[in-house]
Amino acid sequence: MNFDQKKASRAAGRGPGRPPHKAALFLMALSCLNGQPPGDAVRGKTIFVEKFKCYACHGTSGQSGTGAKLVPMKMSQAAFMAFVRLPREPRPGSSPAGQQDRMPAYSAKVLPDEQLADVYAYLKSLPEGPAAKDIPLLRQIGAEK
Ligand code: HEC
Repeated sequence: MNFDQKKASRAAGRGPGRPPHKAALFLMALSCLNGQPPGDAVRGKTIFVEKFKCYACHGTSGQSGTGAKLVPMKMSQAAFMAFVRLPREPRPGSSPAGQQDRMPAYSAKVLPDEQLADVYAYLKSLPEGPAAKDIPLLRQIGAEK
């Protein structure tokens, strides 16, 4: 900041430049420490739906398809990331359509941590769908049996 800019900012009533808020610095340090960048849900949706096609097996809202239900997302961000990097062997019967439906592994090379954090934020932001008993038509069908 040169002298003129300083004068201008003082004239605008902002006073001399203030150091960043301590709490903000603390939060930034914290998110660096645990190694998990906070994600962005909007970017995460694009990645989930367009870029890596997770939706093909998990549904656009993470609740349908041949893959596991991802909403509500109960895994911690660390567990989620570990799983996507190295999915476990499928549980017996979890993937009835066969091998091609197995959860592929996504290495950090193809799907960097920041983007995976975005996907996590997107899944976390999704509301859980209504339970069958809360959908009138389904309740009606159930009552007719
Ligand atoms: C080819 C199909 C397919 C694609 C594509 C796919 N998944 Fe999966 N995913 C699966 C299957 C099948 C499982 C269930 C594995 C099991 O538990 O046996 C699964 C499980 C998971 C789980 C564990 C859920 C739990 O509660 O156990 C997470 C998390 C997950 N997928 C995230 C993702 C993300 C993120 C992407 C995109 C980057 C993705 N998946 C793309 C098929 C897929």
